[in-house]
Amino acid sequence: MKIEFADRLKQLPPYLFVEIDKKKRQLIDAGHDVINLGIGDPDLPTPKFIIDKMAEAIYDPANHQYPLQWGVPQFRQQVAEWFKMRFGAEFDPQAEVLTTIGSKEAIGHMPLAVVNPGDIVLVPEPGYPVYQSASIFAGAEVFHMPLLEKNCYLPDLDAIPEDIRRRARLMFINYPNNPTAAVADRDFFERVVKFGLDNDIIIAHDAAYTEVYFEHRPLSIFCVEQAREVAIEFHSLSKTFNMTGWRIGFAVGNANAIAALAKVKENVDSGQFNAIQWTGVEALAHIDSVEVRALLDIYRERRDVLVEGLQSIGLDVKKPEATFYVWGKCPVGYDSMSFCSKVLEEAHVVLIPGVGFGKSGDGYFRIAITVDTDRLKEAINRISKLKL
Ligand SMILES: Cc1ncc(COP(=O)(O)O)c(C=O)c1O
Repeated sequence: MKIEFADRLKQLPPYLFVEIDKKKRQLIDAGHDVINLGIGDPDLPTPKFIIDKMAEAIYDPANHQYPLQWGVPQFRQQVAEWFKMRFGAEFDPQAEVLTTIGSKEAIGHMPLAVVNPGDIVLVPEPGYPVYQSASIFAGAEVFHMPLLEKNCYLPDLDAIPEDIRRRARLMFINYPNNPTAAVADRDFFERVVKFGLDNDIIIAHDAAYTEVYFEHRPLSIFCVEQAREVAIEFHSLSKTFNMTGWRIGFAVGNANAIAALAKVKENVDSGQFNAIQWTGVEALAHIDSVEVRALLDIYRERRDVLVEGLQSIGLDVKKPEATFYVWGKCPVGYDSMSFCSKVLEEAHVVLIPGVGFGKSGDGYFRIAITVDTDRLKEAINRISKLKL
């Protein structure tokens, strides 16, 4: 018997980090001290008050049953309250808020709720790879919107051709942005909402990093009143509270878009463990607590150490205003793969090649500041010794 798997798996883009992963493993196996600045996963533990809440919630038998499909009502209520407090926008927790199993799950399911085979999804590149794979799984065609430095890493909406606009049903955007760390201003959100309304395209804003910021609080797309006619926004507790492993997030926005996503989810998952949703209530209610705010100070210090250190050895990097990523330009004579390979082979430091996020990312690298300042200083020291 010859087993053939689905063509859609073959349509996924090649995994560009194979070589880097292999080399990293070889170095570790050979006993080298490899500094991994690749993974966007907080290294610090979840704050204790959140773990304490989980310990309590796990003993409640009411939490042991199937979760309600849209999520624990108190979680959605807390989301609505937090959203109003943080972004000034009001959402009906019954109809405009949905609990998700992290934001990746919601992003992954969104195209199934919106597009038919052959429709177009507008996807930023470089970008979080799930926008593209989820669109492919839904049978959509992907149209890439390049994020270029000269445009402050915002997509050039005017450059999207008329025939593409006609066939597009969904656009993904993501600010604060992974991997470029760019933030979007109100003017951009106004333009993107108008674009969606004019062209009947749902705007799906991935806002997973709005709470990891250093100077100014990043905006929600719902700073634009009309956004609720056309947009859905994905949020996550993963980065804000060091809860990546807990898998809890939420979507807010247009009631029809929320209901469509809920319909897909009802048929493929049974929601997130109620105890985790109750933990989410506790976390969101104390987002301004000392324990949570201290995390931002830690990232700020790391960012400053890293960026100032890399600048002092001649690398072209800027301080990000948000996210825990630093997006840098490879030195002259290198593309992203050759630079990241050299840094890995000779300095034993893992950076992510920008091209892995899309072709406009070539010539750049991404660093995650998810290691402590001593390790960052050690990484800078090692890179400073390279002949570039
Ligand atoms: C841009 C972006 N969106 C969404 C996610 C998914 O986060 P989660 O599923 O943990 O909420 C990530 C994770 O790295 C991300 O970088």
